[in-house]
Amino acid sequence: MKNLLRKLMGCSLAGLAIISFAASVGYAAQRGTAVIPKPQKIIFQKGYFFTIKPDTVILTDKAAMPTALQLQNAIAQATGYSLTVKMPRSSVRDENCITVIVSSDKANLGREGYRLAVTTSRVVIIAADNAGAFYAFQTIRQLLPVQFFSKTPVRGIDWKIPCVRIEDYPRFAWRGAMLDLARYYMPKEFVRKFIDLMALHKMNSLQLHLTDDQGWRIEIKKYPKLTEVGAWRKESIAGHFRDKPRKYDGKPHGGFYTQDDLREIVAYARDRHIRIVPEVEMPGHAQSAIAAYPELGNTGKKLKVSVNWGIHKNIFNADEKTILFLQDVLTEVLEIFPSEFIHIGGDEANKTQWKASPKIKARIKELGLKNEDELQSYFIKRMDTFLVSKGRRLIGWDEILEGGLAPNATVMSWRGTKGGIAAARAGHDVVMAPTKYTYFDYYQSKNKKKEPLAIGGCLPLRETYEFEPIPKELTAEQAKHVLGAQGQLWTEYIPNPKKAEYMGFPRYCALAELVWTKPENKNYSDFIERLKAHLKRLDILDVNYRPLDK
Ligand code: ACM
Repeated sequence: MKNLLRKLMGCSLAGLAIISFAASVGYAAQRGTAVIPKPQKIIFQKGYFFTIKPDTVILTDKAAMPTALQLQNAIAQATGYSLTVKMPRSSVRDENCITVIVSSDKANLGREGYRLAVTTSRVVIIAADNAGAFYAFQTIRQLLPVQFFSKTPVRGIDWKIPCVRIEDYPRFAWRGAMLDLARYYMPKEFVRKFIDLMALHKMNSLQLHLTDDQGWRIEIKKYPKLTEVGAWRKESIAGHFRDKPRKYDGKPHGGFYTQDDLREIVAYARDRHIRIVPEVEMPGHAQSAIAAYPELGNTGKKLKVSVNWGIHKNIFNADEKTILFLQDVLTEVLEIFPSEFIHIGGDEANKTQWKASPKIKARIKELGLKNEDELQSYFIKRMDTFLVSKGRRLIGWDEILEGGLAPNATVMSWRGTKGGIAAARAGHDVVMAPTKYTYFDYYQSKNKKKEPLAIGGCLPLRETYEFEPIPKELTAEQAKHVLGAQGQLWTEYIPNPKKAEYMGFPRYCALAELVWTKPENKNYSDFIERLKAHLKRLDILDVNYRPLDK
């Protein structure tokens, strides 16, 4: 009897806790603070709302002008109001104004942090840099009514921002996404849309996977055949690679980005405080390049750009000429992409051809190396030295640990977190990108029959949300090497933008919160409540996200 009573009381107490939690969540959503990623600190203020009106003024100074203009544009687009931007901001009025201040003295929350104070009479943004001010702007977008996401003016809305004080800054410096444009070419309009979505979620690093066995997508002026030949394939797999019999669609596929296209993308991303990290794969995933220039391969055979997925045997040889060829390619890459980090792939280099090649054997001997792993390490080290001489940093998938890590390399840990742990312990920087939590080409539920075709695996939203990028195994000092985490959109089974959106969202929303928000401020059911409001924004932005489970 006593036990029963205790049980009942336990249940009802637990029930109460849930109800009051849900109520506070509802309150936040009601007060219009369904912000993703969740700010580190939100304090509700006296009064209810600041309202943007046609005669509201944006006050700013020279340093903050870029963000003030972005805010002005966004307000014009959604509301039809063309607000005046006034400078200097000391031309004070303290009513009916939005003040944007960029000043290193006042912010004290890092380059990407910001303070946002909303009262009934004014909005004040203070940040150390336009990056932080831009993130305050992203928060304001999410504090406004959902119609603020409309691309054309919406009439009859009270453009209210709830009275809050927010203090916010990111947990991690690397808040990344990776888009595989090699398996399927995607129009640059989609790349821009993807960048806009990253900006909305305060993400700041976009890796473009530009070369692979199935396509070379970046114009290299010195070697035109890379795109004349390497950007085009005869057809693609229809259905799954493992289907028996394997089927093909019979449709040629291809495309590439000119250097001007890519410069445009870089500039578009830079305006949104996003860095583009280009990835050029070596020594594996190289069949499209070898199809263009057979002398880069090991067999001398003429190859076609691959129409299959999976790990291929055709990898670059390790001749001096090939290394110089790739450094020429990187030279052009560096002219397009200002990113400090340059990704050289390095994953899944099948060594079958190297093991069978007398030339490779001779090269290993000539260089005084032990085996093929050491040769791959030598290859990567040459790229590391080259990139460092140009003031850049090499980053590669965790296979670059094999045979010895290049001295300045950063490791992207994808086969779990082991590679990342080893690299951080050795004093190297690390980006966590483990398949189990960050591969958005995986199915989104166990019920695979209800999901569109995917590569395999299963990665429900919650698992991404609950990923912790800092492994327990690391000391506090080693943990500083974990720069952040990244979500991957490999596109073998993602042939178009709509499916990319379906696979990417809302998992990118979860990833954005895990790299931005401190663990103590994260909570999955609170996230889901905010996400319900957030998905209405994505509806207006025409994002084909996967709906939440009922
Ligand atoms: C990878 O998924 N091969 C990095």
